[in-house]
Amino acid sequence: MMEVMSMAMLDAGSTQSTNNNKDKDNNLLLEVDRIRKWFRIKRSILEILQGRQEGIVKAVDGVSFSIKQGSTFVLAGESGSGKSTIARLILRAIEPDGGSIRFAGRDVLSLDKRGLMWFRRNAQMIHQDPYSSLNPRMRIISIVGEPLEVHGIKDRKERDEMVFKALQEVRLEPVEEIAYRYPHMLSGGQRQRVAIARALVLKPMLIVADEPVSMLDLSVRAEILELMQNLKVKHNITYMYITHDLSTARYFGDSIAILYKGRIVENGDIDDILNEPLHPYTQALIDAIPEPDPSSRLRDKVIRIRSSIDAYDEEKGCRFYARCPYAMDKCKDEPTMLEVKKGHHVSCFLYQK
Ligand SMILES: Nc1ncnc2c1ncn2[C@@H]1O[C@H](COP(=O)(O)OP(=O)(O)OP(=O)(O)O)[C@@H](O)[C@H]1O
Ligand SMILES: [Mg+2]
Repeated sequence: MMEVMSMAMLDAGSTQSTNNNKDKDNNLLLEVDRIRKWFRIKRSILEILQGRQEGIVKAVDGVSFSIKQGSTFVLAGESGSGKSTIARLILRAIEPDGGSIRFAGRDVLSLDKRGLMWFRRNAQMIHQDPYSSLNPRMRIISIVGEPLEVHGIKDRKERDEMVFKALQEVRLEPVEEIAYRYPHMLSGGQRQRVAIARALVLKPMLIVADEPVSMLDLSVRAEILELMQNLKVKHNITYMYITHDLSTARYFGDSIAILYKGRIVENGDIDDILNEPLHPYTQALIDAIPEPDPSSRLRDKVIRIRSSIDAYDEEKGCRFYARCPYAMDKCKDEPTMLEVKKGHHVSCFLYQK
C-alpha cells in the first residue's frame, strides 16, 4: 500500500515521500548503518607458487551515516578509501556483507521486485566518466529516454516530450538538434549534462554523483556544479556527492563524512568540519587544497603526514596510525566515534578524555 502511494505521488511529479517513518526520523532520506564490504583478492597459480596468499580488501568496514531529505551529503577521501564501493552498495549494484540501508524509511536490502523498481526509480547515479558512461551507439534521445522505457512509459511521444524537457532543464540547447546527436558529437561538459538529464528524467529523490566533474575541464566544472545545485533547489533533490576535492565540497555540500581506508574518521556539518577539522587526516586533506597565494601556503602549512616505520596491527588500531604526526601508543587500539560538538563526530584519541 505504501509503495502504491509513493508511486502515485511520484507520478504526480512530487519528490516528497509519503512514508511516515521518515517524518519520525527527522526527515532522513537515507540511513546507512554499519555497512561492510570485503573483497577477496584471488591469486593466480603463479602468485600462489610465489607464496602469495589470497588477500582480503576491507573496502568498506562498518560505515554509518544518514542524509536529510533535500540536503547534499559529501563523501570525501583519497583514492581507494572506499567511496565508489559505498555508492555501489547504496544503489544495490553490489550486496553488502553486513549492515543495513534504509531509504525513505524502507529497508532497501529486503525490498521485493516491485519495491526494487520503486527504489531504482528514486535513486539515480551520475558517473565520473562522461565518455564511458554513455552508450556510443545510441542517440541522446534514446540514452535519456531509456530509463523511462524501463520504468513503464511505453508511449514514444510521451517519452520524447519528457526527454526534451529534461534536456532543456540541463540547458542542452537547441534541444531538437542535440537530441538526435550521438555522444561523440558532444563535448565532455555536454556529455555530463546528458548524464544529469538521464538521472533527472525519472524525478528521483536521491542522486548519487561519483566525482561528477573530476574528468572535466576546469572551466566547465563550476558550470556543471552550479547546474546541479540549481536542479537540487528546483526539484528538492537529495545528493550524495563523492569527491576527493574539498574545494568543490565546500561550494556544494551541507554535511560531510571523511573516509579513510573504509572507515569514517570524521563527520558533521560541512562548515564546522572545513573550518575546524579535528582528525589529523581531515587536516591533511584540507592542507592539500591548493591556495591562490603560494606565499601564504609556504608560511602557514605544516607537513601533517608522516611515514611510520614501527610495526603495528592496522586491523586492531586506528587506520591512520602509520601516517599520523600525532600518533600515540594508545592509537594501536581502535578509537571510537565521539561527538565533540553537536553533530560533529570524530574518531581519534586526541579528543578522548
Ligand atoms: N570488485 C573489487 N574487487 C576487489 N577489490 C575491489 C573491488 N572494488 C573495489 N576494490 C578495492 O576496494 C578499495 C576501495 O575502492 P573504491 O573504488 O571504492 O575506492 P574510491 O574511494 O572510490 O577510489 P577512487 O577515488 O580512486 O575512485 C580499493 O582498495 C579497491 O582496490
Ligand atoms: Mg571511486
